[in-house]
Amino acid sequence: MITVKNGVFTITTANTSYVMHVREGKYIENMHYGRRITPYIDPDANGLIDPSAVIADEQTERALEEKYTNPYGNSVAAAGNNWCVTLDDMCLEMSNPGTGDYRSLPLVIEGPDGCMSTRFYYKDSLLYEGLYSEKERTGMPYAHGASNGTDRPWTLELIFEDVYEGERGKGLELRVIYTAFEDCDVITKRMVLINDTDVTYTIRDISSMMLDMQGRDYSVVTFDGLWTRERHIHTKKLESGIYETGSTNGTSSNFHNPFMMVIKDKATEDHGGCYGFNLIYSGNHRERIEVSEYGKTRILCGLNPFGLAYPLAPGDRFYTPEAMLTYSHKGMNGVSHNCHRFITDHVIPPYFRGRKRPVLINNWEATYFDFNRRKLINLAKVAAGLGVELFVLDDGWFGDRSNDTKALGDWFVNEEKLGGSLDSLVKAIKNEGLDFGIWIEPEMISEKSQLYEAHPDWAVKVAGKEIYTGRNQMILDYTRADVRDYIVDVICKLLGSADISYIKWDMNRPVTDAYSAGETVPGAFYHDYVLGLYDVMKRVTSAYPHVLFEGCSAGGNRFDLGILAYMPQIWTSDDTDPNERMYIQGGTSYGYPPSTMGAHVSASPNHQTLRETSLETRFNVAAMGVLGYELDLTRLSLIDRKIISKQISFYKENRDLLQNGMFSRVYESDNNTIWQVTDERKEHAIALLYKRTAEPNQSYDILYAADLDEDALYRVRVRNIKVKVKTFGNLINQISPVYIKEDGIVQALIGKAYAMDGETEEYTVSGATLMYAGIRLAGRFIGTGLNEGTRVMGDYSSRLYSIDKIVH
Ligand code: DGJ
Repeated sequence: MITVKNGVFTITTANTSYVMHVREGKYIENMHYGRRITPYIDPDANGLIDPSAVIADEQTERALEEKYTNPYGNSVAAAGNNWCVTLDDMCLEMSNPGTGDYRSLPLVIEGPDGCMSTRFYYKDSLLYEGLYSEKERTGMPYAHGASNGTDRPWTLELIFEDVYEGERGKGLELRVIYTAFEDCDVITKRMVLINDTDVTYTIRDISSMMLDMQGRDYSVVTFDGLWTRERHIHTKKLESGIYETGSTNGTSSNFHNPFMMVIKDKATEDHGGCYGFNLIYSGNHRERIEVSEYGKTRILCGLNPFGLAYPLAPGDRFYTPEAMLTYSHKGMNGVSHNCHRFITDHVIPPYFRGRKRPVLINNWEATYFDFNRRKLINLAKVAAGLGVELFVLDDGWFGDRSNDTKALGDWFVNEEKLGGSLDSLVKAIKNEGLDFGIWIEPEMISEKSQLYEAHPDWAVKVAGKEIYTGRNQMILDYTRADVRDYIVDVICKLLGSADISYIKWDMNRPVTDAYSAGETVPGAFYHDYVLGLYDVMKRVTSAYPHVLFEGCSAGGNRFDLGILAYMPQIWTSDDTDPNERMYIQGGTSYGYPPSTMGAHVSASPNHQTLRETSLETRFNVAAMGVLGYELDLTRLSLIDRKIISKQISFYKENRDLLQNGMFSRVYESDNNTIWQVTDERKEHAIALLYKRTAEPNQSYDILYAADLDEDALYRVRVRNIKVKVKTFGNLINQISPVYIKEDGIVQALIGKAYAMDGETEEYTVSGATLMYAGIRLAGRFIGTGLNEGTRVMGDYSSRLYSIDKIVH
């Protein structure tokens, strides 16, 4: 609910309040954003709260507003020359250069005379049911209303006018726009700049949102990394001064994800006040936090000003990306739950909300570029036999693409390599019982390609300057309408040429020279590229609304809400090593739900780390996302096929829970991690227990749970796993009647056909016991013997536990 009353603006969600009011007739002071507060209750009203008032009563306003009692030392007085008021010490919703607020500012624009001072003062407000993006075509993805269409969000616009006397006259307007997504405790904010003057302004810096908060006792939590180690969690105590993160490589980047949290100092996973911020945007972004000496904290999120000099001509509007804000008093898991719900209900395309995602086989790590029709069909045949549902043909099916030095842009089928048309291959794969999906990298162009020969000016480069490539390729200039039309046509023709139900949309290199041979000026390039990308994505996905698109950018280089608005899942990382995935998927889970994370079982030793892990652990970790397989299934041993077939059955039986359940990080120690997904009715849950390294002579693990009914009874069962004979090395001779040489033929033969059953464990306990005491699981193997109850847990080992309510 949003209320506007007597100059007080209150946005209320299920558990949070955002309260502002007009100050000194022209500023907007933020009085509170955080846990929901209730209004003053009139003693004569018999304790009744007027729900329409929510918070906008005089008593509460008087209590919350900041008192300016004494003149400030050498600070600048707010206009009106009341020296007791300085903007440098006010929690503001909008602040201007040249007014004595020396903190980081949300908007810096340059007039034709070079002047950068502005006076955007509050003028008016607008409140309506619905979304700003429904009345204005912003060209950008946005958070939509609930998929069932009932729960319409409300929007508030605060209108600020640049009050300028003199020859330039009036006509610059800034709108700060708020939408309340009450069900998931999310508020979105964005700024829109409108130029109704007759001169061009240049935007130097523009944020989507600014949030000023009282206090300085916060830490910032960010998710940072590189290729194959994306979104690792980092926590830093905020101190006086500025903390800044973001990206400048043209994408949201694997360096620093746009999602971050600002948490109160004593907050933990489950307790304490935590804020979460994200941007519905896929390009350069910046998050800046400034702790002022007056004891206030300012947070800015939005476009990165790097390389930005965006011209705003008379009559133009500049729409910033929509920023997401959430608050939870239930710790970081609380923030995650809000973000997960917001993404599934309001960000991903509604068609895919709760829709089951297929278990896929991707041929990339199975074959790389070295495939032909026979290999693909054999892979599909085996995959189908194991229960896989979708076959994905990755890179290498087009043009002269036999390696990664060439042919990007030549999106015509290499029929020689595929042994016929794409349509005939798709039919053959479908004949094996699988749906068909295909990889494409439509934002790229290789120097060695027919497309580049025909259109050298379509590549992003500065004519006359040495070209810097990444993975031997250049970027196609999506700021140009002719390029975009060409690519939309290419993708639509591809989709129309065969029965394709899935597309993996890759993007393997970041931007370097931000320069177009078309009309876009360099200072607008980064943003216009992203707008161009959204234009293409929107046209393609709305032409094929039922095709499942999976975003990818060398793995997770572009894991953000902008991509998710078109593509409900993203390839989380090129790193499929389960031990690394615990960091990557774990970090990603703070801001994004399991249904957005592509997670594959690949070969061991792993192709990125050479680490050896068991097939069961590779599955257990991948099962916490959208499951796929990416290895040569045709070379599997008999026992591995059996194991995979059981894994897929387990996943399918629990798919809704694993893909759409509420995800929590339950427990973390140096060595053990527990995650859990739980259904809405708290009747079914699955917990993953992961152990990083074996611990000698310390045999017990405790299984803790979360999110259950305290008083209900639950049956807890371990998913039965197989333990390979090889695990025991030459210890196997302690029980074998004949000597088995380690790594010898006999061991290999036994290992291919046989594996031991892992432990079976089952308990029936109350939810409270599970959550607050935990189950002391059977002892682990510690070198003193092995029996049916022993849990064999070496390095990188794991178990999945099904937790089911006993309903009488
Ligand atoms: C990078 C992706 O992340 C991989 O999964 C694979 O599709 C390769 N590109 C293909 O070139």
